[in-house]
Amino acid sequence: MTRLSAITPSGHAHLGNYLGAIRRWAREGAPGDLYFVSDLHAMTVSYNPARLRKLARETLAVLVAAGIDPARVCVQSDLVRELGALSWVLECTCSFGEASRMTQFKQKADGQGTVRLGLLTYPVLMAADILLQNATEVPVGQDQTQHVELARSLARRFNSTFGEVFTVPRAVMAPTAARVMDLSDPTRKMSKSTQDSAGVVFLLDEPDLVRRKITRAVTDNEARLEYRPSSQPGLANVLEILAACTGRSPVEVADDHSSYGELKNAAADAVIEELRPLRTRVLELLDDPTTLDGIRAAGAERARERGAHTLASALRMAGV
Ligand code: ADP
Ligand code: NA
Repeated sequence: MTRLSAITPSGHAHLGNYLGAIRRWAREGAPGDLYFVSDLHAMTVSYNPARLRKLARETLAVLVAAGIDPARVCVQSDLVRELGALSWVLECTCSFGEASRMTQFKQKADGQGTVRLGLLTYPVLMAADILLQNATEVPVGQDQTQHVELARSLARRFNSTFGEVFTVPRAVMAPTAARVMDLSDPTRKMSKSTQDSAGVVFLLDEPDLVRRKITRAVTDNEARLEYRPSSQPGLANVLEILAACTGRSPVEVADDHSSYGELKNAAADAVIEELRPLRTRVLELLDDPTTLDGIRAAGAERARERGAHTLASALRMAGV
């Protein structure tokens, strides 16, 4: 079994990425798992090249620092030649209608003046990521299942048209982990792409800044310290964060505290302690290019080797 997961370095990794994905990847990762820093996907919207390069490196350091086996990580663009070649083959297997039916494309393209062609075709690139690594399973949230369905369709279509080359992958629902909400607006999830970062705890934020963001979290005036996500979403979010960091339930955590101020301070303490070793290790790795570049090069080499046979077969069967 090969399971492929990815994180797009469209911004700095945050507490939501950590509690919802990265920490679980590090704890539960199986030997066949692969973790990609999908920097090519970050090019589908306006971006700054120097910043993207820095963020890809930083995100790789975060994955390794979190305890994910360095033999399982890879930066997507290190395989840009292989992925570019396979994407082209797959694009010629995909219909325009199929690509334009992706609901995420419609949503993302909606508010934008200029829509890059890459935004339309990036699910095909994602299919290339998956098929090149012969992944059998792709853990995804609800918003990505349609993309894995596309990868399945393209794999099956290619196999039946040209000959058996691709392993047909399966989408598996990622376990519903804590969904961390923005501290300044608990109606939206904490995200890398949020402009105003007052409510986003980045993994590399200084402890003082982490404390400030958490103690200023938007809650309510009910002065009722209970876990009630629908009527007190801001408070529930702080309770969930503290619960996730201490291995308890939000209800238990609510019982332990009597005021919002005290609760927020306890949550700040817990998050700072949870992130401290991670942050230290990330900074060490970023300061040690030999180690980080070595991990990166080895990861790229392994991923390239894993995909070499599939790519060669796909090109040959496609007639080129
Ligand atoms: P973002 O939305 O911040 O750009 P990604 O789409 O790159 O994050 O997601 C990387 C991983 O982090 C995915 O597994 C996703 O489910 C998880 N994730 C992202 N944001 C959150 C959040 N606020 N709470 C929990 N998990 C999250
Ligand atoms: Na995202």
